[in-house]
Amino acid sequence: MPPTTTSSSSSRSLLLHLAVSAAAGNATSSAPLACSEVSRVCTAFLAFPAAAANVSLLESMFDAATGDLTADAVASPGYAFVRKNCSCFPSRTYLANTTYTIPSAAAPLNATAADVAAAAYAGLAVPPPGGAAQRPPRPGAVVALHLLCGCSSGPWNYLLSYVGVDGDTVESLSSRFGASMDAIEAANGMAGPDPITAGKVYYVPLNSDL
Ligand SMILES: *[C@@H]1O[C@H](CO)[C@@H](O)[C@H](O)[C@H]1NC(C)=O
Ligand SMILES: *[C@@H]1O[C@H](CO)[C@@H](O)[C@H](O)[C@H]1NC(C)=O
Ligand SMILES: *[C@@H]1O[C@H](CO)[C@@H](O)[C@H](O)[C@H]1NC(C)=O
Ligand SMILES: *[C@@H]1O[C@H](CO)[C@@H](O)[C@H](O)[C@H]1NC(C)=O
Repeated sequence: MPPTTTSSSSSRSLLLHLAVSAAAGNATSSAPLACSEVSRVCTAFLAFPAAAANVSLLESMFDAATGDLTADAVASPGYAFVRKNCSCFPSRTYLANTTYTIPSAAAPLNATAADVAAAAYAGLAVPPPGGAAQRPPRPGAVVALHLLCGCSSGPWNYLLSYVGVDGDTVESLSSRFGASMDAIEAANGMAGPDPITAGKVYYVPLNSDL
């Protein structure tokens, strides 16, 4: 069953602590989804692995409003779903803009702002081209990032950006999100039920609004 929309008040009641986790290491291995119709815009969803949801932090990280955040603890424990407008950028890739404010917690001395931001988004974000994100992660600095999102080019309404974790299979994603295995394979250009790579973004077709 696809996760269903919760009310703003129940989203708000979730307590969020970021799992800035091991998955972040592979963040840059995901390529954005290609597009051809520059300036096409659609509604997209992103699955963010939050151990519990601090709504104000999610709103800030995804430049989203409370009503754009949903969660379903039964269908996908530990995930928050963010609704974003996704666009075909001039680079002919589907992306959405967001910004990340570097927190005051100590970052490794040799990390860049891009490293810290990529770790925070657990693989859903990449820095835009240009040097700004390569600066040291000064607390309070605002870093522009691109979220990996997608618009459907198949017979389904939305794509959900989902970062693979150890143990995932096409079959497990299919039963978790209610998309057929064929649809998941088609949306991701997979030849068959290939293994799911931990840390890589997959686009899961959805027919209903999350
Ligand atoms: C949400 O998380 C941020 C960053 O960790 C923290 O500053 C803020 O106090 C938290 N808000 C709530 C309501 O817990
Ligand atoms: C998407 O864009 C529309 C039109 O500009 C806007 O009204 C809406 O709030 C946006 N939705 C999100 C989730 O940003
Ligand atoms: C994303 O941000 C860039 C840089 O600020 C801006 O030029 C572009 O119009 C934005 N695109 C969208 C779809 O918001
Ligand atoms: C950054 O420093 C840590 C600890 O000294 C080290 O383990 C890591 O490999 C370094 N990373 C890079 C990219 O140099």
